[in-house]
Amino acid sequence: MRREYRLACWAAALVVALLASSNAAAQQKSVNAAAAPAAAAPTAGGEYAKRFADLCAACHGPNGRSDMPGTPALAGQHSFYAITQLFLFREGRRDNDAMTAIAKTLKDDDLRGFSDFIGTLPPVPPPKPSSPPDPARMSKGRELAQQHKCFFCHGNDLAGGQQVPRIAGQREDYLQTSLQGFKSGKRPGYTMAMTEAVSQIAAADLDTLAYFAARFTAPAAVGK
Ligand code: HEC
Ligand code: HEC
Repeated sequence: MRREYRLACWAAALVVALLASSNAAAQQKSVNAAAAPAAAAPTAGGEYAKRFADLCAACHGPNGRSDMPGTPALAGQHSFYAITQLFLFREGRRDNDAMTAIAKTLKDDDLRGFSDFIGTLPPVPPPKPSSPPDPARMSKGRELAQQHKCFFCHGNDLAGGQQVPRIAGQREDYLQTSLQGFKSGKRPGYTMAMTEAVSQIAAADLDTLAYFAARFTAPAAVGK
């Protein structure tokens, strides 16, 4: 609850931006505009399920769990988070050649449709690792995550919520690149939250946090 309240103003800013740019199109298509707030409309969901399979699954996996290096799992990600990131790619503020090229072809309705679809994908746990997690590294990771308030924003289960992403079980290589990117400025966030969160953390500790989050499972989150 508390984190949602704190982040509400960021959400409002994005909604305003997206709605303003989609206003003209929405007026022309009053039927679609009326249907737009009903995010889970079965027809829209079906259309984007198909388009996801055609356009996105090759990289992100048919169930949203990618096995391609550097490519994030989308399964279990929140629609609000997904839309902020698609928006950043489309505006060229988040830099990745493949994603920018795709995002540039997406209209506002598509950003919404793909994000709503992503929000319906249940989390898929990572494949079982060949060796068990190193207990010393895991406890160091937990300590860092407590100290730097990762749990405060990403939740005790690291499952995120609203525009805060799930990081539990995300690919380690992707977490590593993201955290280093926030620190170096290569990845500007939708807000300054992450830039501030990592600014005082040493690069080696960021890798420990990536190691920890990729292997993190929250016993309390079972059955949720
Ligand atoms: C050619 C491979 C490729 C295709 C096709 C692709 N993606 Fe991506 N996607 C990526 C990579 C790689 C990243 C991570 C980029 C980075 O490191 O910044 C990414 C990132 C994302 C993110 C941000 C996830 C996060 O955790 O921040 C979203 C959302 C996303 N993609 C959605 C889509 C959608 C929707 C489609 C289809 C319309 C799609 N992608 C097609 C490779 C791809
Ligand atoms: C003040 C709230 C806040 C804190 C504290 C915070 N985060 Fe975040 N985090 C966010 C938000 C919001 C995003 C979405 C990034 C954006 O703005 O585009 C994010 C994004 C991320 C991402 C990118 C995930 C993806 O799928 O691309 C990672 C990884 C991450 N955080 C890890 C951490 C770790 C590790 C910590 C602790 C060192 C931490 N965060 C602390 C709010 C926070």
